[in-house]
Amino acid sequence: STTPVAIVGAGPAGLMLSHLLARRGVESVAIDTRTRQEIETTHRAGILEADSARMLLDGVSDRILRDGYEHEGVELRLHGQGHRIDFQELVGASVWLYPQTDVFIDLADARERDGGDVRFGVTEVEVDGVETDSPTVRFTDAGGERHELRATYVVGADGSRSQCRRLVPEARRRIYGKEYPFAWFGILCEAPMSAPELIYAQSGRGFALISQRTDSVQRMYLQCEPDEDVHAWSEDQIWSELQARVAGDGFELETGPIFERARLNFRSFVQEPMSHGRLVLAGDAAHTVPPTGAKGLNLALADVKVLADVLEQALDTQDVEVLETYGPRALARVWRSQNFSYWMTQMLHTPPGADAFDVRRQMGELETVTSTQQGRAYVAECYTGWPNHPIG
Ligand code: DHB
Repeated sequence: STTPVAIVGAGPAGLMLSHLLARRGVESVAIDTRTRQEIETTHRAGILEADSARMLLDGVSDRILRDGYEHEGVELRLHGQGHRIDFQELVGASVWLYPQTDVFIDLADARERDGGDVRFGVTEVEVDGVETDSPTVRFTDAGGERHELRATYVVGADGSRSQCRRLVPEARRRIYGKEYPFAWFGILCEAPMSAPELIYAQSGRGFALISQRTDSVQRMYLQCEPDEDVHAWSEDQIWSELQARVAGDGFELETGPIFERARLNFRSFVQEPMSHGRLVLAGDAAHTVPPTGAKGLNLALADVKVLADVLEQALDTQDVEVLETYGPRALARVWRSQNFSYWMTQMLHTPPGADAFDVRRQMGELETVTSTQQGRAYVAECYTGWPNHPIG
């Protein structure tokens, strides 16, 4: 069979692209090696920029209005003292607490409702011929049947361990990246919210993030070693470390049974160019960011917003060279997000081996940012997301 657009990867990026193309009358087939159940139970990001929320409200689902929480600010907590960054006052914007699992569920439901072609749980995915006029995607479906799909264009939205991005020849691809000497220990627990908004804390004992899921389920993270064994910690140890990293001001965390724990290793990564022949890359397949700025999911959605326009134009004009306009349009936001994610990460974490100078310099940076209106506005503008494309 043939399709205008084959999408490898049916996470939020792949499914949102499929949705945006359908609204333009462009058919696509999206495949994923994971089952729907596997994706729905993998806990990831929690914060949507207003533009990302708007993309959901535009024909996907309005559930975010009922189950999401609008946040008009965030707290940076430095050595136990809270400093609120008031997004509304500073830049007139909000973000939404709405977990990536819910974003995915809404998108998967919407594609099903609208008759989209999405195949989960496929195996043996092979992409060929992206440098020719008729690329193919072969896969075995969940029932064991082998399929060959001819596509006009192939989209690699297959995540941070992308197989598609390796189709860009080594001589042509440029890879940029950073590793970090720490990771996050993430938990989900049954407890009421400790605060109305997120808390990003640096205490001198390392970073902690107090996030949320619902009125009765909370998400928290603490900086740990890159090889930390998260199952070696008792619940008491987790709570006392989290409390120690946010304590002060009379503030105390609400605690409760921990029912999920995972280590999250992070890195910064970009592969350029974002297109090659009839292949284009979107989301984590092209770039990953450390989680501290809550940018990864938002950046993936911003990619596919540009990409839907570019693919529609390339199909209308039958001009493959139109694909080359995608990377330059998407990369401005990619590198801004790389910078903000890197900056927030280095500003809020304690690297191993930090000496007294490093610790005091970091407090100087954090105080500069939180004590001036300009510093707070800079954080607010980056965190809530830059105005729509093109930026500049
Ligand atoms: C969450 C994750 C993040 O990386 C972040 O910056 C904020 C919130 C979360 O999972 O809730």
